[in-house]
Amino acid sequence: MAQGRQPAAAAARNRKVVLRGYIDRAPRVDDMELVDGGDVALRVPEDAGPAMLVKNLYLSCDPYMRGRMRDFHGSYIPPFKPGSAIEGLGLGRVVDSTHPGFSAGDIVSGMTGWEDYSLISKSEQLRKIQQSDIPLSYHLGLLGMPGFTAYVGFYEICSPKKGEFVFVSAASGAVGQIVGQLAKLHGCFVVGSAGTNQKVELLKEKFGFDAAFNYKEEPDLTAALKRYFPEGIDIYFENVGGPMLDAVLLNMRMHGRIAVCGMVSQHGLTDPVGIHNLYCLVTQELRSCYFGLELCFYAMPGMADNIRLILWLLLLCSCSSLGFCSDLDVQCLKTVQQSVVDTKGILKSTWTFDNQPNDFICQFTGVECWNSGENRVLALRLSNLGLEGQFPRGLRNCTGLSMLDLSSNNFSGPIPSDIAQQVQFLTALDLSYNSFSGEIPVNISNMTYLNMVNLQRNQLSGEIPWGFALLSRLTSFNVADNLLSGPIPSGLSKFPASSFTGNTELCFTPLDSCRSASNGDSIVGMIGAAVGFIVGFVVGFIHAMKSAMMELVYCSHCNFSLQDALYSSKTESHIRGKFVYVSAASGAIGQIVGQLEKLHGCYVVGNAETNQKVLTHGRSFLLENTLY
Ligand SMILES: NC(=O)c1ccc[n+]([C@@H]2O[C@H](COP(=O)([O-])OP(=O)(O)OC[C@H]3O[C@@H](n4cnc5c(N)ncnc54)[C@H](OP(=O)(O)O)[C@@H]3O)[C@@H](O)[C@H]2O)c1
Repeated sequence: MAQGRQPAAAAARNRKVVLRGYIDRAPRVDDMELVDGGDVALRVPEDAGPAMLVKNLYLSCDPYMRGRMRDFHGSYIPPFKPGSAIEGLGLGRVVDSTHPGFSAGDIVSGMTGWEDYSLISKSEQLRKIQQSDIPLSYHLGLLGMPGFTAYVGFYEICSPKKGEFVFVSAASGAVGQIVGQLAKLHGCFVVGSAGTNQKVELLKEKFGFDAAFNYKEEPDLTAALKRYFPEGIDIYFENVGGPMLDAVLLNMRMHGRIAVCGMVSQHGLTDPVGIHNLYCLVTQELRSCYFGLELCFYAMPGMADNIRLILWLLLLCSCSSLGFCSDLDVQCLKTVQQSVVDTKGILKSTWTFDNQPNDFICQFTGVECWNSGENRVLALRLSNLGLEGQFPRGLRNCTGLSMLDLSSNNFSGPIPSDIAQQVQFLTALDLSYNSFSGEIPVNISNMTYLNMVNLQRNQLSGEIPWGFALLSRLTSFNVADNLLSGPIPSGLSKFPASSFTGNTELCFTPLDSCRSASNGDSIVGMIGAAVGFIVGFVVGFIHAMKSAMMELVYCSHCNFSLQDALYSSKTESHIRGKFVYVSAASGAIGQIVGQLEKLHGCYVVGNAETNQKVLTHGRSFLLENTLY
């Protein structure tokens, strides 16, 4: 039982903001009403079970709430109850608790009510906030749902690469402004759209976007995008839908990615705008994925410990020099930034890798000042700083590191063979444009969270470890311009972002005229090739299964290329008992899809052009039912 219960007699006035009634249009202020909720006892009622009474301090007003103002019950979240306090994300202080996990005085963030005091019994989605010098309101913005959404959408769905062209709509909104800054920090070219000239200025001047435009002043959105992206868009972070999406589709580059975060322009429309250019998904081999809020909290590597992500976001924003956080708020992290950017400063002088190795790479003054004794550096972006010497030794102090970018420096020597033990949570590793030599350590392929590996333009030799093919999160693999030889592990070449060029001894399968690094064309080589093929097949199969499972979690709308198709399935349908609809079901592909889904225990409906096809395929292919 929690300590420090409130005395039974304590009470306070409770005001509530209630919804007057359901609406089917844009909301107005008078759709809501501030009412006096009477006195509330500042004590959890005896019959309430494990619960807590929270004094709400901050409330968040988010676009999804507009959907809850409709009398519509088919959504992932139910409508508000007219006359009751509006529900939403908020942050408050626990006043009284009978919940064993929470005590009076705790600061919590999660679903609460638009009222002074809320009784909360669903604790699963409540986060306890560790108080620090970070303003509490940040936990509803940068460090709350919008920040997580931006982070997950940009890094997990878009798989960004340095130099790519990124477009963000509703870019000055809570999510968009963070996406733009993350993209800039990642070395992308970023353009945002917003609805007023003041917001456009904000995007360029404060948030550091390369360009921004007022979509309301553009008569032709397709032409406007062409103007800002003459070479096309690699990544579109979709917040608005409607005509903007149609215009973007016409401007996407091959293998582009669209993270469908939301479609705010369609909220409240009884007749949503149709999209005409979806065919570009096929012609440009695009990937378009919606991602849900739940991902933000549960699907990140190491997300059981959300603090890692939170700190990463903070570190990124403090490093951005974009003024997102005030000096006071992230003072100590600013110190990190100064260390990083000042090549004559602390960082450079303590990083004398060859001559005076020291083990304190991650113990910047700034980070120590945040929370002494704990290592909380999450992203080391040390590209193009003229650093030299051996691979940094102190990484073993960076146990929480998620991203390591040492690209475009003068590092040399081997990549340490125990790198996976040192930085096991790494999701992105960029060692490109250095002079690292020796073999790629087999150990790297034990880093199960790896999403992106870039080893381009080094002097790495030997074969690519097969274990990479087992990394289910890997989406980008670049080893171009090295001295590598032997076969390319099955599956690695499938990513649009993969590159193996400039390694004259590499070959795509052991059956090509592939000279194994260890042996030429001897019988041993042939046996090796055969074994390699079998291992590759097994590894590829396991990886395909893993990839398919990943996609089940991540994607609700993915185009897939032929390579993808040969490699793994990207559809959501492979769950026994699911309802599957196949168009052009009597065609060469459709008829096989239908049968596969049936074999998998799904309920399948197909359509076809003639009654004859409907009858034939309905019987012979065991489709449950057919549409004409
Ligand atoms: N997938 C998820 O888990 C998740 C989580 C959070 C948010 N979202 C979605 O992400 C999007 C952005 O959310 P947010 O929190 O950043 O929103 P926000 O801070 O409330 O900003 C929304 C902005 O959208 C723009 N907008 C409104 N109506 C529009 C219209 N008809 N056409 C074009 N733009 C319009 C407005 O800016 P302008 O003046 O520039 O037009 C508005 O300020 C929304 O679609 C939301 O539903 C999704």
